[in-house]
Amino acid sequence: MTVKVQGVVAARKGARVELTTVLVPEPGPGEARVRIQACGVCHTDLHYREGGIGEDFPYLLGHEAAGVVQAVGGDVTDVAPGDFVILNWRAVCGHCRACARGRPWYCFATRNATQPMTLEDGTALSPALGIGAFVEQTLVAAGQCTKVNPAIKPEVAGLLGCGVMAGIGAAINTGGVSRGDSVAVIGCGGVGGGALLGASLAGAGTIIAVDVDDRKLEWARGFGATHVVNSRETDAVDAIRELTGGFGADVVIEAIGRPETYKQAFYARDLAGTVVLVGVPTPEMLLEMPLLDFFGRGGALKSSWYGDCLPSRDFPMLVDLHLQGRLPLERFVSETIPLDQVEEAFAKMARGEVLRSVVTF
Ligand SMILES: NC(=O)c1ccc[n+]([C@@H]2O[C@H](COP(=O)([O-])OP(=O)(O)OC[C@H]3O[C@@H](n4cnc5c(N)ncnc54)[C@H](O)[C@@H]3O)[C@@H](O)[C@H]2O)c1
Ligand SMILES: [Zn+2]
Ligand SMILES: [Zn+2]
Repeated sequence: MTVKVQGVVAARKGARVELTTVLVPEPGPGEARVRIQACGVCHTDLHYREGGIGEDFPYLLGHEAAGVVQAVGGDVTDVAPGDFVILNWRAVCGHCRACARGRPWYCFATRNATQPMTLEDGTALSPALGIGAFVEQTLVAAGQCTKVNPAIKPEVAGLLGCGVMAGIGAAINTGGVSRGDSVAVIGCGGVGGGALLGASLAGAGTIIAVDVDDRKLEWARGFGATHVVNSRETDAVDAIRELTGGFGADVVIEAIGRPETYKQAFYARDLAGTVVLVGVPTPEMLLEMPLLDFFGRGGALKSSWYGDCLPSRDFPMLVDLHLQGRLPLERFVSETIPLDQVEEAFAKMARGEVLRSVVTF
């Protein structure tokens, strides 16, 4: 049976998002229908709306979500109706060359629902990151549902579905931060805040938060930053070097996605250190730097897509750490909002007033 629900759709590049009727088909083979309980507003949703990710409008936005499975296709055995799940955008295939080599977090053939959700006139929607969760119910591949302990609040759990996981994983999985490392994070929104938490969880010694907004820097202390730098007032590279004995940090994580902040990250790391790019650049951005510096400074320059996470491994573990009081994920939830206020939440995000606005249903 097709379900008729309300969802937030970006109809055209740059246009205000609209609350619209969405038709969700009955799950077919390999699919699950999930009743969304909470979905965070991520910067990537705004990138979609602004045409920065693709031109496949109309988009059904939202992708940082948790909810309860309502129905599954006949062949689905891993999740069942009633299960509390976090949605993920890395449902690994198990067969591609990355999966076959035991590196499924690089899976080249991740799964999404095969049937489209549509508008009432039959127009197929493009779900953001293959999820689409600013909607009362959504259709995903069953592998996109990761079952976790239902004791966690949905508005907190959902954040692990994208930005916060991307940040934590950028530090722990991609950056390989370990005990005693010095770490700097440039850009301390939801993703950068996650990177600070990840660095702190991994036992980093000096943890430097860099942002242009003092509010973000204040919140950064709550995620484990030992030092904060407002790079509008102080040169970020000089400040990071000064705080690390004149050398630069072992791991620098760029969580904005801009050439000028990438350059800061590059020059603020120690020789043979690691730079992790987790912020997402737009297609027109270019970087011009001396090739000799890439060579001479050694080390590793990495990009981090979804924090190189494996949802089935990382989500339940992080939920358990949160429930034990060791991962203050609730600090990311600046406000909960109804489904019709996503546009206002974009504006608040742009003004830097929130870490995460979370739609609750
Ligand atoms: N790699 C991934 O898998 C992944 C996943 C989710 C989001 N992202 C990307 O990560 C980036 C951050 O997302 P977010 O949700 O945290 O966004 P956000 O808007 O919450 O945070 C961005 C932060 O950067 C700060 N900032 C902006 N310009 C700056 C500058 N010049 N110097 C220092 N700080 C500056 C802002 O004040 C803000 O605190 C986006 O590009 C988003 O698309 C990547
Ligand atoms: Zn694969
Ligand atoms: Zn996201």
